[in-house]
Amino acid sequence: MKYVVANWKAYVTDSETAKELADAVSRTKKRRDVAVVLCPPFLFVPALAGKRTSYALGAQDVFWKTSGPYTGEITADMLKKLGVTHVIVGHSERRHHLGETDDIVHQKLEAVLSLGLKAVLCVGEKERQDPRAIPALVGEQVKKAFNGIAKQDAERVIVAYEPVWAIGTGMPDTPDDALSAALYIRKILADIYDTRTAGKVAVLYGGSVDVANVADFVSQDGVDGVLVGKASTIKKSFVDILKRLA
Ligand code: PGA
Repeated sequence: MKYVVANWKAYVTDSETAKELADAVSRTKKRRDVAVVLCPPFLFVPALAGKRTSYALGAQDVFWKTSGPYTGEITADMLKKLGVTHVIVGHSERRHHLGETDDIVHQKLEAVLSLGLKAVLCVGEKERQDPRAIPALVGEQVKKAFNGIAKQDAERVIVAYEPVWAIGTGMPDTPDDALSAALYIRKILADIYDTRTAGKVAVLYGGSVDVANVADFVSQDGVDGVLVGKASTIKKSFVDILKRLA
């Protein structure tokens, strides 16, 4: 199975546009073994719920408690009741602009998994000093996020390797380095759990994925798909990306 997770961030600003994008996805013929997960802003989740036949519904974030006195927060329980099946956790834009720590990311991961949902856990370094070495920080982010998570829950996590310097810059990582990062992440998971569990966790690449490069990432055996930001919010470019995988 290959995954295409579309993170619309705050690029999509009304429910009409969200619906148009989702309809375009539904009309695009895809292989059966390609799973598309659409992650609109929270407000537009209801507009996409119930319509999905060809995509899964995701959210871009979640609060770490499942209910209680937390003004303004959106819980995993609320998302689940709307039909959300996947939740992005630990996106670098939240880590860096909103102060999300590894501990917060871990708690969010627990909240998502405790309700039986799937998590898309984002990890990635801000800078890469040695272009050939995947920074140890990535491994640390993985270890801290999975700390204490049971094996059977870990299997419901999709890890997205997203080097921060590649996000929104038009400068993607190379497919080779993305593969090295995916193998490194899987090795860390095998150390925490075992090879069988590590093999069940999908590992994606994200950061300036577009129609020109998507096939290079997805065609690699060790990379289970892509997380697409900006390019997934432009109808033609997202449809073309999906067609590349058809
Ligand atoms: P981008 O974003 O595709 O716009 O680089 C990817 C992401 O941040 O998820």
